[in-house]
Amino acid sequence: MSAEPTSPPLPGAAARSPFNNWITAIGAVLAIGSLFSFALLTWMDLTGSHKNPYLGIFTYIVAPGFLITGIAIMFFGAWAQRRWEIKHAATMPDKWRLDFSNRAQRRLLVLFGSGGVIFLLLSAFGSYQSYHYAESTQFCGQVCHSAMNPEFTTYQRGAHARVDCVECHVGSGATAFIQAKLNGTRQLIGFTLDNYRRPIPTPVQNLRPARETCEKCHWPEKFHGNIDLTFDHYLSKKNNDSYGVRMLLHVNSGRPGSPLGGIHWHVNPDSAVEYYAADEKRQDIVWMRVTNKKDGSSRIYRNQEFKGDPPAGTVRTMDCMDCHNRPAHVFPTANDAVEKSMALGTLSTKLPAIKRTAVQAIIQKDITTGTEAPGKIAEFLRGKYKDEAELPAAIAEVQKIYATTIFPERKADWRVYPSNIGHKDWAGCFRCHDNKHKSDKGETVKASDCNSCHTIIAQGKGPELAALSSAGLEFKHPDGTYDEELSCADCHNGGIQGK
Ligand code: HEC
Ligand code: HEC
Ligand code: HEC
Ligand code: HEC
Ligand code: HEC
Ligand code: HEC
Repeated sequence: MSAEPTSPPLPGAAARSPFNNWITAIGAVLAIGSLFSFALLTWMDLTGSHKNPYLGIFTYIVAPGFLITGIAIMFFGAWAQRRWEIKHAATMPDKWRLDFSNRAQRRLLVLFGSGGVIFLLLSAFGSYQSYHYAESTQFCGQVCHSAMNPEFTTYQRGAHARVDCVECHVGSGATAFIQAKLNGTRQLIGFTLDNYRRPIPTPVQNLRPARETCEKCHWPEKFHGNIDLTFDHYLSKKNNDSYGVRMLLHVNSGRPGSPLGGIHWHVNPDSAVEYYAADEKRQDIVWMRVTNKKDGSSRIYRNQEFKGDPPAGTVRTMDCMDCHNRPAHVFPTANDAVEKSMALGTLSTKLPAIKRTAVQAIIQKDITTGTEAPGKIAEFLRGKYKDEAELPAAIAEVQKIYATTIFPERKADWRVYPSNIGHKDWAGCFRCHDNKHKSDKGETVKASDCNSCHTIIAQGKGPELAALSSAGLEFKHPDGTYDEELSCADCHNGGIQGK
């Protein structure tokens, strides 16, 4: 819009185009820069090995946004120029006709040209940086802090803390790619407008198939033999008695290449287990079919209530995720979280009945936000203990357990995110192996007695837990015998057990 005519009108000067002004020129540089970024990002997006849904935000929203802004600035410049001309009732001489003999013009041109090039380089660099930023775990886990905090927190202490979010969460192939872009955009808009579901519903429907994710790093043929696990527990008694169970899990009792048995039999290449769950969370499995892929024979099991066949399109083939549904984000139960601190010694077992009290403190009904939790927990514990020396440390530890276990802002904890790997606190394996699913001939599902999946080699406390039995032990329930009809999860809910 600079108006001072600096040089006399050149002979034959035509009426000056309204697009011929500084504002429009700046707009044009911006538009060209973002067009360039857009092309670069699209290229990286299409050729990159990692398909990040959020990259779509930069590629298809931010870059075009700048492009549109640039074009708008160009038109604004033209409009302002016209206004100026009308106001001054004069047609501007075309002072922009390049005159290389004019030093001032030459200098301006060089300045403008190099400014433009630098801008282009900067936008290329910016695009490249945003590409890598969008790929990072930090972006997924921390930018949408309040939305992703539960998953990020649980992820960081899991076995997969070094595996990028996108490895498990973004599909490959053209449709998965577009779907992920749409999803990422929808999620970011949802997050910005604070309009997303709490808790985020599971099972996640568009997760990459296990073949493409888990099996890149873990392949079923590799497993063999037993896995030795010890579960440390404490009883809700005054003296905080410990109670451990050590067992061998028969993950794969066969050898590689042999007919694969054991727990990982479900994913062996020669057979398939399909099922139909009556609920969205896949917890109420009412129908299943086992197919022997070699001879094509199959067997169907139903629970007592379900007759007939599942509706079309609802049958799912079992894969890793049907048992390992929480490989990266384990939401421990209140019990397990407290017991873990006790086992590590960070929560003193000298405080009488600390297990029960700590669990009660973190599951208080009237804690509704994370900010009020520390105060209420401290108050609760101070009400139960007097002046024990361990109290301040215990308060701090229980507050920490709360912060990493229960996420009230997202309504996320073990109660809404069941883990399907066992059967104590959630139905898990017992969704199918419960002796209640039967074939037409009345057969029950194989592996439904206590020794088919694991052998308990030690249980109890102290020396009892140290003495190993190779023959295997019958499980001694610490709270005595109970009605056989009950399933573990009927009583064990992760909080305070009821009978
Ligand atoms: C090892 C694979 C893996 C990695 C790595 C991973 N996730 Fe997940 N994530 C899963 C699986 C499997 C589920 C689905 C659980 C279900 O459907 O029940 C899931 C579920 C989720 C959910 C839905 C809510 C929930 O808790 O089920 C969110 C949100 C999520 N992940 C975010 C992230 C973020 C953020 C990261 C990186 C910090 C990440 N994930 C890394 C496997 C992974
Ligand atoms: C990029 C490689 C990678 C991918 C993809 C991956 N994992 Fe892992 N996983 C690992 C590594 C490495 C470990 C071992 C960690 C250790 O030893 O502490 C591991 C450990 C495990 C363990 C045993 C340890 C535990 O405590 O949980 C399970 C179970 C597991 N992964 C399941 C899965 C499932 C299910 C998936 C797919 C959703 C998956 N993994 C995807 C690399 C991967
Ligand atoms: C969707 C239903 C379903 C779920 C969930 C399930 N299973 Fe199975 N499982 C089956 C079916 C069906 C069979 C085959 C039964 C038959 O042939 O009679 C089987 C067979 C087995 C076998 C025997 C394999 C062999 O050697 O032939 C073991 C062991 C086993 N399951 C363990 C588990 C464990 C552990 C879990 C939980 C982590 C689990 N299952 C979860 C359906 C399921
Ligand atoms: C029927 C349920 C079930 C299915 C399906 C299943 N697993 Fe497992 N897997 C288990 C159980 C149970 C264990 C024992 C560990 C435990 O209980 O935490 C285990 C152990 C593992 C381990 C730990 C091995 C080790 O040496 O520490 C890895 C890794 C693993 N599974 C990966 C996979 C992958 C990958 C798939 C899919 C190809 C898969 N699992 C399918 C139930 C299952
Ligand atoms: C279908 C296979 C299967 C059957 C049948 C089964 N279990 Fe388990 N059980 C598991 C798996 C898998 C785990 C490990 C869960 C984990 O890794 O967290 C487990 C864990 C346990 C634990 C340790 C749980 C904890 O948190 O301390 C006990 C105790 C136990 N089982 C007892 C039993 C008893 C008693 C029976 C018979 C009523 C039984 N199991 C039947 C698969 C099975
Ligand atoms: C009738 C209800 C009921 C049933 C059914 C039940 N339990 Fe328990 N269980 C309890 C109670 C109550 C305690 C004592 C809790 C305490 O002291 O904190 C307990 C304690 C335990 C403990 C040690 C402490 C803890 O909190 O983990 C384990 C392990 C356990 N049960 C495993 C199982 C398994 C595995 C099954 C299924 C095979 C099962 N229970 C079925 C009520 C039950």
